[in-house]
Amino acid sequence: MKIDELDNTLVCDNEDYNTILSYFKEYRVLPDYIEKSILKIILRHLLNKPIIRNTIDEYLELIPDEFIRKAIFDINTMFNPQLKSDYSHRHFAYLLYYLPANVFKIWKPLLDLQLRNTLKPHMRVLDIGTGPASVPLGIIEYYKALADSYPNMSFTLDFTLIEAEKEFLDIAEKILFFAADAAPSNLTINIEKMICATVSEDSDFNNLNRFDLITMSNFLNINEGENYTHSLPIIVSLKDCLKDDGSMIVIEPGEEKSCKYIKRIRNTVVNEKVLNVFSPCIGLWEEKKRYNCECFSMTRCFWKLPHIFHYLVSKGLHKAKRIDVPFNYVVFRKDDIKKYDILQNAQHLIKLKDLNQHIGETVNIIALIRSVIDNKNALSINLCDGSCSFSKGSPAVWIKITKEQLRNFGINTPLISAERITIKKALVSIKGNNYYLQLKKDTRIMIDY
Ligand SMILES: C[S@@+](CC[C@H](N)C(=O)[O-])C[C@H]1O[C@@H](n2cnc3c(N)ncnc32)[C@H](O)[C@@H]1O
Repeated sequence: MKIDELDNTLVCDNEDYNTILSYFKEYRVLPDYIEKSILKIILRHLLNKPIIRNTIDEYLELIPDEFIRKAIFDINTMFNPQLKSDYSHRHFAYLLYYLPANVFKIWKPLLDLQLRNTLKPHMRVLDIGTGPASVPLGIIEYYKALADSYPNMSFTLDFTLIEAEKEFLDIAEKILFFAADAAPSNLTINIEKMICATVSEDSDFNNLNRFDLITMSNFLNINEGENYTHSLPIIVSLKDCLKDDGSMIVIEPGEEKSCKYIKRIRNTVVNEKVLNVFSPCIGLWEEKKRYNCECFSMTRCFWKLPHIFHYLVSKGLHKAKRIDVPFNYVVFRKDDIKKYDILQNAQHLIKLKDLNQHIGETVNIIALIRSVIDNKNALSINLCDGSCSFSKGSPAVWIKITKEQLRNFGINTPLISAERITIKKALVSIKGNNYYLQLKKDTRIMIDY
């Protein structure tokens, strides 16, 4: 991997792309130091003295049952679709359960940015609604992987954190201290500023200088006070502290209602010409100047359940069992760069909106992966090329393929979402309201990550 002298970005060759994609081959694993840090912070609070043990299980044994009972109650009741979130006396329950679940979501948007050579070795990051620092930890883990793969390069992450609740900021500071301690010598982690403030439609971020990356995870949510209603003015004022080549990543939960809301925010931001979408939903055939779609799709992050989750389940928590954590994200930029350039040559390719004219025929298509449903040995892949929209009840476009077939096409890295897929010589069929692209003997499939 090289550093572009002019742009100061990380530039990858094919071998580097293979290295980076290899991070996604196996399920993510929460490193022991994060689990231990969570438990150390909780035990320090409960027992009022620093606790040092060797294993995660030894830390878990020290947690009083009464604390766990309350934590499980808090985890179950923290987010009620009808109520605004209230974290009072629930910060440690959030730390125990929601921090681990949220850490790795940022890896997919970071991968999108890296595949277009837009990440930098030295990043100034502003994380808003930081909670216990789930997103900064995820960025650190991604950069740790880079630092391990490229031991001769040096990387720096400078974080500014904004959070309304002092209790969360205290936890975030402690956990980032442990993260800095566990970082390899070629990765430097700094907390530039921690700001305890409530972001509102009138917030002015101009005194913060400019950032390479601005992140908001589970922050513009309808449960988080007025944040959703004020999302446009908040994003407009943040735009000024985004560098010209910077990126803004918004992450929200994966269920249908949150998906709709994040897409509404995206639509307004683009239609009001505030920022452009870099990924995942872009037009392949022509630039999408306006966004109206609110379709339901999701990205999944696969991980091995951490020790803490097994422990919580053993103590009676009924969630904490998903190895695929669903979420939605948008990466915005202000320089018009998108993950993929507009296709120039439409020859021999059919747009998805025209599939209805080709039922029973063999076609070539190029599209983006909206969602992937993993049914053990086979995948159901949902497609979009920006030419169609998928409102409730309108047809979707699917291709079903076994993992073995994918391997036979030379595709060995998991498909997540937002990858560009080219399918040559597939048969178009219609079933119910949906179109299916069926594989034939001479079908070919290629993926541009
Ligand atoms: C659901 S938590 C998300 C925490 C973290 N980003 C994550 O994804 O795990 C939302 C966080 O945003 C903070 N928050 C909500 N509204 C805020 C506002 N207007 N200004 C600052 N912080 C806010 C809350 O206190 C809480 O810590």
